[in-house]
Amino acid sequence: MQAILLVGGQGTRLRPLTLTTPKPMLPVAGVPFVTHQLARLAAAGFDHVVLATSYRAEVFAAHFGDGASLGLRLSYVVETEPLGTGGAIRNAAAALDGGDDPVVVQNGDVLSGHDLAAQVATHESTGAVATLHLVTVEDARAYGCVPTDAAGRVLAFHEKMPNPVSRQINAGCYVLDRAVVDAIPAGTVVSVERETFPALLAGGAPVVGVVDDSYWLDVGTPAAYVQAGVDIVTGVVASPAYRPNGTDVLVDPTATVDPSASVVGGTALGPGVEVGAGAVVAASVVQHGVRIGAGAVVTRSAIGAGAVVGPGCVLADAVVADGASLG
Ligand code: GDD
Ligand code: MG
Repeated sequence: MQAILLVGGQGTRLRPLTLTTPKPMLPVAGVPFVTHQLARLAAAGFDHVVLATSYRAEVFAAHFGDGASLGLRLSYVVETEPLGTGGAIRNAAAALDGGDDPVVVQNGDVLSGHDLAAQVATHESTGAVATLHLVTVEDARAYGCVPTDAAGRVLAFHEKMPNPVSRQINAGCYVLDRAVVDAIPAGTVVSVERETFPALLAGGAPVVGVVDDSYWLDVGTPAAYVQAGVDIVTGVVASPAYRPNGTDVLVDPTATVDPSASVVGGTALGPGVEVGAGAVVAASVVQHGVRIGAGAVVTRSAIGAGAVVGPGCVLADAVVADGASLG
């Protein structure tokens, strides 16, 4: 089967980190985030994945190449102007292999442990034209609110509703019939959430939801981005792109940590990072070349490449730009 990965968003909530690196390429547990999604697709038996890029498009192919190292065949399509989620799907479809098989579409910022094969099987057994992975959250306002009936049929799709009618939301992974993809108008901005799904429902087409409450996280905010790395490194969620090392931290072999420092709680230190005497780095993502001074305390933070955290600095829930110098 083939998949389209939507990786063209601007990642505005993760600025300034996303000014230099697109959100799907930010490091999570030692590799660009999207590596975890690609490895999951490979493990689920997918062979061809089309990356739908726009913002900072060039960095994806530069890193992943033809995908052989992941056991995948990767294609890249670029939107010169972002076409929205629906327009991106339509644009990416041109790079799919031919045939009538349904296609899987995934948001490029979701870490999920759900059973993709079961979702595809449901699509086939129900005869739906679109099958959506759904999860339950406490506050549905930031998501697509997707109520279903007792049989799992989707009743409505309300993107970012101020007063959600349900706590059940769109988890950002769809199985779509090729006819659904082909019906999206080409070369224009379309939102799959605000236009395509509501139009299918208005036309009475069968759209089915698959509720799977295994691990799920949208890494679009700084707190969630940091949490994703911590959860993989501490084993809360398994990723085929992360090999557990018997500890609850990931320290690149080229990083240097003073023996009196403590690096704990799911922290990942990138290449060349230096951590000074007595410093504490907990539950944080530290990109390559960062220097953390003696006695600094860094908690639940994301530190951009080459930044310097001065001696004694105390950072909690912080996002530090690439190359910044603190303290
Ligand atoms: N190629 C391309 N072009 N990709 C895009 C574009 C575009 O114009 N716009 C967004 N994307 C990609 C983003 O890179 C991201 O991977 C994905 O599409 C979703 O965009 P977000 O900006 O992260 O959307 P969201 O998190 O507010 O909401 C979406 O995800 C929620 C679940 O995490 C929606 O699909 C919601 O319905 C859903 O609940
Ligand atoms: Mg998102």
